Amino acid sequence: MNNSILSYPVRGPYGNSKYRGNCSGYLIRDILDFYQPINFLECFAGSGTGFDVARELGYTNSIHLDLNDHFGNFNLLKDELPKGADLVFSHPPYWDIIQYSGKNHVWGDKPHKDDLSHIHDYNEFIQKLNVINKRIFESIIPGGRHAILLGDVRKKGKYYSIIKDITWYGELEAHLIKVQHNTRSKNKKYNSYNFIPIAHEHLLIFKKPQIR
Ligand SMILES: C[S@@+](CC[C@H](N)C(=O)[O-])C[C@H]1O[C@@H](n2cnc3c(N)ncnc32)[C@H](O)[C@@H]1O
Repeated sequence: MNNSILSYPVRGPYGNSKYRGNCSGYLIRDILDFYQPINFLECFAGSGTGFDVARELGYTNSIHLDLNDHFGNFNLLKDELPKGADLVFSHPPYWDIIQYSGKNHVWGDKPHKDDLSHIHDYNEFIQKLNVINKRIFESIIPGGRHAILLGDVRKKGKYYSIIKDITWYGELEAHLIKVQHNTRSKNKKYNSYNFIPIAHEHLLIFKKPQIR
């Protein structure tokens, strides 16, 4: 990570490329190389991208959590988060743009009631994401960091800036822009061309202040 623009045209051999909304393992590898955490926790672990990267880098103690079966059906809204991480990486759903639980979605037979991607009301989605971000913030050690990857959404002509609408926990230490590659919307033909398609995501790094 030499500067605040990130671009990974290839996602690498990590996680599962068929798991919709997955991220590039190179992003997580860069974050781990830069911050070199002792206790790494990944929330919204999805297909295991972060797990594969962490194991490749020799982290044997990292913890990876998701509501899906693969990562312990861990419910970030309710289950007790492990305490003591000095770095958390989280990659929440892009509101309800890609739905995860349920038949014909990404995993499981039916929608899970606490799956954030099934919340259609934007304000409720933000409020639940705030609950999770607060819980993550409380679980990390003073001086620790929360790196959160978030996208913007355009729906029915309205632009939603999730990074603007969420509550920020901790001090913003860095704001990186990640270029998006291979998104489905990239190949989509729009009827009206009077808007600029979104081709970036945000990586915000929040630091929990040290106790003085
Ligand atoms: C954008 S995906 C993460 C993709 C992952 N970074 C990867 O590369 O595979 C978001 C994830 O949030 C999970 N999720 C949604 N609501 C959750 C909740 N309440 N607790 C834990 N995980 C949740 C979904 O199961 C999905 O795997």
